Amino acid sequence: MSQTDMYVSLDIGSSSVKVLIGEMTDRSLHVIGVGNVKSEGIRKGAIVDIDATVQSIRKAVEQAERMIGMSIREVVLGIPANQVMLQQVKGVVAVNSENREITDDDLDRVMHSAEVMIPAERELVNIIPQQFIVDDLDEIKDPRGMIGVRLEMDATLVTTSKTLLHNILRCVERAGLQIREIYLQPLAAGYFALTEDEKSHGTAYIDIGGGSTTVAVFGDGRLISASALPVGGDNITKDLSIILKTTTGQAEQIKHQYGHAYYDDASEDELFEVPVAGVDTKDQYSQKYISEIIGVRLEELFEMVLDELYRSGVRDLPGGVVITGGVAKLEGVSQLAREVLQTRVRLYVPEFIGVREPGYSSSVGLIRYAKLEDEFFGNRGESPFGEAMEPAAAAAAPAKKKKAERSRDGQEKTVSRMKKIFDKFFE
Ligand SMILES: Nc1ncnc2c1ncn2[C@@H]1O[C@H](COP(=O)(O)OP(=O)(O)OP(=O)(O)O)[C@@H](O)[C@H]1O
Ligand SMILES: [Mg+2]
Repeated sequence: MSQTDMYVSLDIGSSSVKVLIGEMTDRSLHVIGVGNVKSEGIRKGAIVDIDATVQSIRKAVEQAERMIGMSIREVVLGIPANQVMLQQVKGVVAVNSENREITDDDLDRVMHSAEVMIPAERELVNIIPQQFIVDDLDEIKDPRGMIGVRLEMDATLVTTSKTLLHNILRCVERAGLQIREIYLQPLAAGYFALTEDEKSHGTAYIDIGGGSTTVAVFGDGRLISASALPVGGDNITKDLSIILKTTTGQAEQIKHQYGHAYYDDASEDELFEVPVAGVDTKDQYSQKYISEIIGVRLEELFEMVLDELYRSGVRDLPGGVVITGGVAKLEGVSQLAREVLQTRVRLYVPEFIGVREPGYSSSVGLIRYAKLEDEFFGNRGESPFGEAMEPAAAAAAPAKKKKAERSRDGQEKTVSRMKKIFDKFFE
């Protein structure tokens, strides 16, 4: 029987904060609310101003809340790949029950047993099991219900810097939100953007955002590496603004409207006028002209991606690359990527109504991944909402109301890893 669960995801990006409210039935997502506001306080994927970030999160949350008339209480939070470290680990426990049947508790304990491997000064983001081994039988996806004495797990441990995570959690908590789960953004997004074959053959998932570009590699069915480069669409805008002698706002608009990344395909006849900053004149340019500026910057970006792949030990990508993120909307991106990266390139855009934009890949991935994990762990999706809003009152005192809910919830919930992390930071 199909079950419908509600989720709210939060992607704190350098260009915009995105809040997505989605209803998941089986594998399909029905978007019922979206908040998307220009972000302040985030540079190159990292939080540099807590107050400004909190404000941006609040605005995005309120925008989404208005669409559904309910207050948002709990979110699935995306963690950027900046400073992330991946480690292969092993967990081992003795099966507890008398009849030796493996239970939820054994699964929980074997996952916890791998946590001893977390290095000092780092904080756990995710444990991704690859296989379980019951006595000597390996390649088990779900050991529950099986009989054995010894349960082992091979997993990937995703950790990040304590400071980075602290700043993100601080902002989310100050925005009056609780966290249902956290996921490394390219893990959740890449899992759904890539096909099973791509994930097994070796494929790079590249998310080109405003201030950063995330490079993640999947192979043998798992996430192999993830990192972030401090470049993105903002660099293109800045180049255009300097060379065309116009404001950042104008440059951004021109990029969206006339931008092309591939010189050979850009039009010479498509002309447009650009107001010169500070004076009362306009200059005329062609799409071809700006495609050269854009192309140079993106070529450099793809060269950096190549270096990054090489640095993380990737020598071969039989599955090619999959590009997403806001910049994937730019015409000619895939042609240019193909030329520089010398491999197969495809663009990924989420296919759900309301979020058919490459900038929503992470938001969508977070919700779908949360649903997938809930199914695996048998969690019944709790409602992520607080009370129905009285429009004015809800906007006036959102943080206060949510605090009360938090303590009430703390008693009701059983095992919540997120709650533990959260409490450790803010007790
Ligand atoms: N139609 C378009 N043409 C060109 N560029 C675009 C278009 N739409 C969006 N962009 C660019 O995409 C970038 C924003 O992408 P996205 O929303 O994925 O970033 P973000 O997630 O906020 O940032 P980050 O991931 O770096 O933290 C901006 O640089 C924006 O100018
Ligand atoms: Mg992003």
